[in-house]
Amino acid sequence: MKYKKIEDRTLLEKYRQMISSVAVTGDSKTCRIIKDELKRSLPQLLGKPLPFEKKIKSGTLLIGTPRSSASIKRMRFSKRLNQLGRDGYFIKSTTIKGKTCIIIAARKDIGLLYGTFHFLRLIQTQQQIENINIVSQPKIQYRLLNHWDNLDSTVERGYAGKSLWKWNDLPKKIDKRYYDYARANASIGINGTVLNNVNANPNILRPEYLKKVAKLADIFRPYGIRVFLSANFSSPISAQFAFEQNRKGGIGNLETSDPSVPAVRLWWKNKVKEIYKYIPDFGGFLVKANSEGMPGPQDYNKTHADGANMLAEALQPYNGIVMWRAFVYNADVDPDRSKRSYKEFVPLDGKFLPNIFVQAKNGPIDFQPREPVQPLFGAMPKTPLMLEIQLTQEYLGHSKHLVYLAPMWKEYLQFDTYAKGPSSTLASIIDGSLEHYKMTGIAGVTNIGDDRNWCGHFFAQANWYTYGRLAWDHSLTAEQIANEWIMMSLTKDHDVLKTIRSMMMGSWEACINYMTPLGLHHIMQEGFHYGPEPSHGEGREDWRSTYYHRADSIGLGYNRSSTGSNATSQYFPPLRETFDDVKTCPEKYLLWFHHIPWDYKMSERTHSEKSSKILWEELCTKYYLGTKYVDEMTAQWSSLKSSVDPEIYSHVQARLEIQKTDAAIWRDTCLQYFQKFSKRPISTP
Ligand code: GCU
Repeated sequence: MKYKKIEDRTLLEKYRQMISSVAVTGDSKTCRIIKDELKRSLPQLLGKPLPFEKKIKSGTLLIGTPRSSASIKRMRFSKRLNQLGRDGYFIKSTTIKGKTCIIIAARKDIGLLYGTFHFLRLIQTQQQIENINIVSQPKIQYRLLNHWDNLDSTVERGYAGKSLWKWNDLPKKIDKRYYDYARANASIGINGTVLNNVNANPNILRPEYLKKVAKLADIFRPYGIRVFLSANFSSPISAQFAFEQNRKGGIGNLETSDPSVPAVRLWWKNKVKEIYKYIPDFGGFLVKANSEGMPGPQDYNKTHADGANMLAEALQPYNGIVMWRAFVYNADVDPDRSKRSYKEFVPLDGKFLPNIFVQAKNGPIDFQPREPVQPLFGAMPKTPLMLEIQLTQEYLGHSKHLVYLAPMWKEYLQFDTYAKGPSSTLASIIDGSLEHYKMTGIAGVTNIGDDRNWCGHFFAQANWYTYGRLAWDHSLTAEQIANEWIMMSLTKDHDVLKTIRSMMMGSWEACINYMTPLGLHHIMQEGFHYGPEPSHGEGREDWRSTYYHRADSIGLGYNRSSTGSNATSQYFPPLRETFDDVKTCPEKYLLWFHHIPWDYKMSERTHSEKSSKILWEELCTKYYLGTKYVDEMTAQWSSLKSSVDPEIYSHVQARLEIQKTDAAIWRDTCLQYFQKFSKRPISTP
């Protein structure tokens, strides 16, 4: 959101001609925000003051809805605006009474705000605006950020300082950054935020907190952002009773939170009613239940659907929704953790009320550097599934490593589940086109904190940006998004941009290679989730590294094929068969699905990637490829010293040095550990 003057003289002249005044019709809060943003941006971009006036002249940028602008209402296309939904917009060149203008038109003011940010992005990225004709509308309806922020201002898995929400100061004292947060999110189309951690403190539902939440909701509303809360399933239980029973308790006065008990249902109905008094457009609840110690309906032998339906019923009169998380891995369900969530949720398909999403993480385990897609996607045709991805780099080097996540998210979105034959991509499931869901949604666990630069690592801002862009339009490519972000945040110089983009584009694959290549997963330091700890073999079984990598004298990897845990059977054919056979299983998932002998000849595989090496050598090669990439990125960045902002340069340089050291530690720790089993020399390239 840096608005720097256009340097290209010819282009600048063109822009100046085409935008010589601005008319924003409408006077809602949202329209005022549009005006402010344009007053802040256009004079800077164009290097001259601009009149803001109602009168339409040649070169007017006219922004309005058919309601607020008679000129827009008269236009032939104005009826088509109705098909664009609440958020969609047009950006068009046109003539009004013989005057050449550009118009941004939408059905609702929020569409105008999105259209305005789109228009500004075009200028910031030096696009042609002559004969412009853009129609845009989001592919996904609910585009949410999930904050894992605690009420004590810490952030679970947050690496960018403390929580942005200053709970002690609210509702009286307002941090200016709340407005910038809303601006930034609106600029990329994010329209909802869950303010608190899924490991929810029940206190968030007390009136004193609801007043604080209401204040934030008031600030965010004109930016099109609705507020949601994570709810603790035990909220109705009294703290005293819970204490006596040595269980988790809440803020109510009951002795149970069993969803079949009328008093519990009534408690939630009243609570929801109270919430809507404070926040009339409250979005709804996100719930982590019966997972990692959180309470839930299974504590009373009730199902996830029973629990979710109770809350959905309370929210339904107000158009609120429930996002019920599928991140559950009860060890009694199956010895293989990757199978558990599917086994628990698939039988419940069709049992959830219509205002419920089941929210599932991209992979079946937990935001690992790479996983195959969670097999639930495609397997619950009657239940809208919301995709949850992680912006905060819990398993990807926190805010110390430069890892551009667009290629990762694209890999997931394009993953073909074959649920209804070929082209049943994950994207087509979550955008509703495959199963015709009535609601569609995506959630991103944020990487935002109160650090001066918001995300800890400067390049982590690109992941926040990317998330919003893909939530709006998942067909954008990772390169396109990188280009936009680099041009708006760093440079317009073609060669510099190319270098930075190439650093970013390979950074995810490099991170996989130096951490968990060939389908390895969950071998990081326990608890902290930063460095490597493949030797970790104590405590809860499915938290041990040894449970996942299964290294022994014969080989490496988790046999999830039909001769092992048979997790492959949770996928649709022909994926099931492809994954099941060592020969055809993609190299990237090899050790995820198979236990492979150390001396296995990789050339025996019929899969496209051919290698003349044995598994052990291939593993060494991959680890070294990963570290080499980081060395190269560091050198590439050094070559840009005089081409980027000096402060950003040193900030990134310092982190790349850390990443270089860390990558080598990952490589050496893992290879030395696995060598104890393979008993072969580490082959360096
Ligand atoms: C991971 C993460 C936890 C988080 C959990 C979740 O396990 O380490 O901090 O609470 O995911 O998504 O609920």
